[in-house]
Amino acid sequence: MEANIVILPGDGVGVDIMHEAVAVLDQLADRCGHRFTLVKRLIGGAAIDAVGQPLPSNTLASCRAADAILLGAVGGPKWDDPDASVRPEQGLLQLRQALGLFANLRPVKPHPALYDASPIRPERLAGVDLMVVRELTGGLYFGRKLEMADTAEDVCRYSRAEIERVVRQAASLARRRRRRLTLVDKANVLATSRLWRKVTQSLIAREFPDVELDILLVDAAAMHLLSRPSDFDVLVTENLFGDILTDEAAMLTGSLGLLPSASLGDAGPGLYEPIHGSAPDLAGQDCANPFAMLLSLAMMLDHSLGLVDEARLLESAVDRCIESGQTTVDVGGRLGTRAAGAAVRAELDRQLDQRYGRGQPAALSA
Ligand code: IPM
Ligand code: MG
Repeated sequence: MEANIVILPGDGVGVDIMHEAVAVLDQLADRCGHRFTLVKRLIGGAAIDAVGQPLPSNTLASCRAADAILLGAVGGPKWDDPDASVRPEQGLLQLRQALGLFANLRPVKPHPALYDASPIRPERLAGVDLMVVRELTGGLYFGRKLEMADTAEDVCRYSRAEIERVVRQAASLARRRRRRLTLVDKANVLATSRLWRKVTQSLIAREFPDVELDILLVDAAAMHLLSRPSDFDVLVTENLFGDILTDEAAMLTGSLGLLPSASLGDAGPGLYEPIHGSAPDLAGQDCANPFAMLLSLAMMLDHSLGLVDEARLLESAVDRCIESGQTTVDVGGRLGTRAAGAAVRAELDRQLDQRYGRGQPAALSA
């Protein structure tokens, strides 16, 4: 197949891990006969340095024209001045909003070989397989902001339509999984949460009577994610709660460096990125974990390009590396970023050989 993919390495370790993702794309193109056109563009701090803004217009234009977008990470201390007029994170937020990427899917499935890397006891991790669907283009992130000398304000606003479209996505996902949906809100305090609750309850009753709906307050959800994580199937929540809960949930898998994400809208290209940040202290040192990036690439192959076989093979190549201890130090291994990426490519080659014959360009999902 042919696909037009925009590559946004961004800042910090984003650059290191993107290198490994591009190598896997080259490998898949070579072995499976696909034609991927990769267009590399600037975003975040790198873009501020080059052109003075975090989302240059040619980056946005290329993204709009793409079949899918792969992003590393943005941000770093260099651009952290609270008085700065532009910030790297604005690039990512503007991109999510401009492309209408309202649903952010963050799957969390700890690998048994890494139970020891998690601060949570192994018996609690057994059977954990959950998906957080985070609303990505509304709420506090995008409400009106006011910054004065001694007061500041962030408005949290949600409309029925914004809630319905993301809850519908989450419920459809639940339908293909264990049919359980948990709404996480703070309806005992927040007006927006009370709207989320009303809209979600009536939408599920109307359109998804076969999906079981639970509701949890966000503080309780933070606790239950650690005390009984295997009870969850799909969680749906507003932007900020989703941001916080997914960093927490990442620790179930043992490392922030393992969690991928897909940001999807109603139409147009999806954006795929690891949930972790730019980790400036690790940048350029060949030590960042590339697996969250590679698993994000697998989500891209699956959701945006329809390359389901390739996606599953890449996921299982990462799994095999985890099982055989071919990992970076954050999850107990000894490999650097490049060696861990190479290990995944070697596993992927082996799997392609097994399924389609040695060294043959396979006509996978063509
Ligand atoms: C994430 C990140 C971003 C967010 C930052 C970099 C703006 O933490 O994708 O989770 O808060 O959405
Ligand atoms: Mg975050």
